Amino acid sequence: MNIVAIYGAEHQGSTYHIAQAFLKKLFSAADNITEFYLPKDMPHFCRGCGLCFTKNEELCPHYQEVNTIKEAMEKADFLLLASPVYVYHVTGQMKTLLDHFGYQWIVHRPNKTMFAKKALVISTAAGAGMKSTNKDITDSLNFWGVGKIFTYGKVVNAINWQGVSESKKLKIEKDVGKIAARILNSFCRTTPSLKVKIIFYASRLMHKKLKINPPDVEYWEKQGWLGNVRPWKHD
Ligand SMILES: Cc1cc2nc3c(=O)[nH]c(=O)nc-3n(C[C@H](O)[C@H](O)[C@H](O)COP(=O)(O)O)c2cc1C
Repeated sequence: MNIVAIYGAEHQGSTYHIAQAFLKKLFSAADNITEFYLPKDMPHFCRGCGLCFTKNEELCPHYQEVNTIKEAMEKADFLLLASPVYVYHVTGQMKTLLDHFGYQWIVHRPNKTMFAKKALVISTAAGAGMKSTNKDITDSLNFWGVGKIFTYGKVVNAINWQGVSESKKLKIEKDVGKIAARILNSFCRTTPSLKVKIIFYASRLMHKKLKINPPDVEYWEKQGWLGNVRPWKHD
């Protein structure tokens, strides 16, 4: 199995350690895990040129870095995105990465490989803010069309992994075991969630009737999605 893990920070703190615990429970040495650390692997802010939306994502000034991550994600069966909570949200560098993938939201030009993928979103906070932080990421994953998304948010009462109490680490280990079992059970199913399908059909209607952004309409037509083809159905 191919896995992509994207960390919203470069240091190996609580979020990273929990992500590693999940990866160990879920996968073996036979699996292929590609890891990206932010901002190292995508150090640029979106410039707002809008070329990805109005023309082609290959014209993005940061295409090289974005494309490396895009190609790895395309090959992956499972995505893991993990971020510490910074002022109730993802780290700036994680947000920056998600901004660069705005063009592949279902309303624009979704990548059809996403519909069969599973994803896990992880955040940790000293006290609070995991719900809004996980939502920052799940908003994008849902709008990318990711088939099934799991989340785990944990208050660690600490600023780094060394500061996390042993009892809390034990609880985390138990949680990881339980959620990992649910994730493993889901591997046989590949149909996307109802939410993803609703976004897809609403976008389809928009492209059919309103034809707002020509590159998007052209893309949808080319995929056959304005006809009978669906990205989650394979012959
Ligand atoms: C800039 C910054 C902002 C933070 N904002 C919050 C916050 O809004 N709520 C909270 O409970 N903890 C906050 N924290 C604490 C971290 O979320 C918490 O310590 C987290 O577990 C760190 O994960 P890490 O060890 O993976 O870096 C913040 C930390 C930093 C550095």
